[in-house]
Amino acid sequence: QKETTVLSIKNTANAPTINKNIYGHFAEHLGRSIYGGFFVGDTSKIPNTAGVRNDIIDALKKLKIPNLRWPGGCFADTYHWKDGIGPKENRPTIVNQWWGGTTEDNSFGTHDFLNLCELLGAEPYLSGNVGSGTVQELSDWVQYANFGGKSPMSDLRKKNGRTAPWKVKIWGIGNEAWGCGGNMKPDYYAGEYRKYATFMSDWENTGGLMRIASGASDADYNWTETLMKNIPGSMLGGVAMHHYSVIEWNKKGDAVDFTEGQYFTTMKEALKMDELITKHGAIMDKYDPEQKIALVVDEWGGWYDVEKGSNPGFLYQQNTMRDAVLAGATLNIFNNHADRVRMANLAQCVNVLQAVILTDKAKMILTPTYHVMQMYSVHQDAKLLPITINSPLYTYNGETLPALSASASKDKNGLVHISLVNIDSKKENKIEIDIKELGIKNVSGNLLASPKLQDFNSFDNPTKIQPTAFKGFEIKKGKLVITVPPFSVIMLEGK
Ligand code: AHR
Repeated sequence: QKETTVLSIKNTANAPTINKNIYGHFAEHLGRSIYGGFFVGDTSKIPNTAGVRNDIIDALKKLKIPNLRWPGGCFADTYHWKDGIGPKENRPTIVNQWWGGTTEDNSFGTHDFLNLCELLGAEPYLSGNVGSGTVQELSDWVQYANFGGKSPMSDLRKKNGRTAPWKVKIWGIGNEAWGCGGNMKPDYYAGEYRKYATFMSDWENTGGLMRIASGASDADYNWTETLMKNIPGSMLGGVAMHHYSVIEWNKKGDAVDFTEGQYFTTMKEALKMDELITKHGAIMDKYDPEQKIALVVDEWGGWYDVEKGSNPGFLYQQNTMRDAVLAGATLNIFNNHADRVRMANLAQCVNVLQAVILTDKAKMILTPTYHVMQMYSVHQDAKLLPITINSPLYTYNGETLPALSASASKDKNGLVHISLVNIDSKKENKIEIDIKELGIKNVSGNLLASPKLQDFNSFDNPTKIQPTAFKGFEIKKGKLVITVPPFSVIMLEGK
């Protein structure tokens, strides 16, 4: 007789809403993310809208992508937005100094990106250049994107074919300022932030810009403390934090051909997200007890060695069931911290790191991570149902991790969604939920699973891994008993 874990779900009146922006994505000028990924140009034979692949547009619409961060990443602090406006043939070329030393012809610029966001129904998140830019340059970008009246920048926008402002609300002030964004000390960056933020006017258009400070890497709590202490709350919409699940920076391991030990370490790194959010959040609570400022995890995901034979600067990797459970477990953590985490961006959307979409010339595939993001999209803007779970352990080589993770929400139609992840590579686990308390009578579900952890969707077999109807549960006397297969992700719907 296997032990059954009790998952208790509370319908708490004052629980927060899960901000849809937790399900955000990231598109940097890096490798084949933009060029050869999203953007093929309007003369391409690949069906496109203003140069952006239609299959990608359709897939992202189905994902209900809430926001998209652009143009970086490290690239953002080298990017001069005026290079990417006006007639394409007149645009200057630059060298992408961080990513492969490629020549960037600036053919995908502000209009291309903001029009794409409009098409997707996604909020744009623009990362401004602090490292090698100027206050004037960023302030001009805001005016160019957002000013409705007559001004030098709005006149220029109109001359370039766009009359109405895009009303971009979310702005990053630099990226990884402690590293590729300028190797700054936190107190120096806090001063820079104040200066840049001062000149980023809202132009009365967006109902208040959400200005986001370049945040800590992983457990750099001093960074968060220094920013919170030195930047007035009125200037700060969000503080960022980046955490990648990496085995070792100089020995990341193959994305597909990995051992159980490597899988275990990746999971350990992924689950660290909970501690990082708790600790950064506790620092923020000291300065912002009303939790007005968001913790924005604007880069997260699994990072492995690049695919053999590919350009090391392009960060192209395949995506397996390891990535699916990594995504599911991380999204559960974000949901359960919805009071403070109000935005996150998976790195990255197309052809880079833990991508949801991979392309090879005219072919496009959806990765296991895509399917998890789509299954979880039902949590977007739903009310969190706080949970408690005493998980069984996943043991490897004498080390343990909690095997099960979960999160739950109730949407505006009264549907309850419960997402479950079992990271154990071998053992199924049973969970029991009292659904009588939640007023649920009928349950249905989807499952993402595959025979091997290393399984992935390839260009030859693009639908090997996809969600299937889940039947592994029964309801007995008001209790829902679920058997969660090893390394799987489940989304249940109850009504
Ligand atoms: O996502 C790849 C890179 O990782 C980003 O450019 C940078 O911000 C981070 O170090």
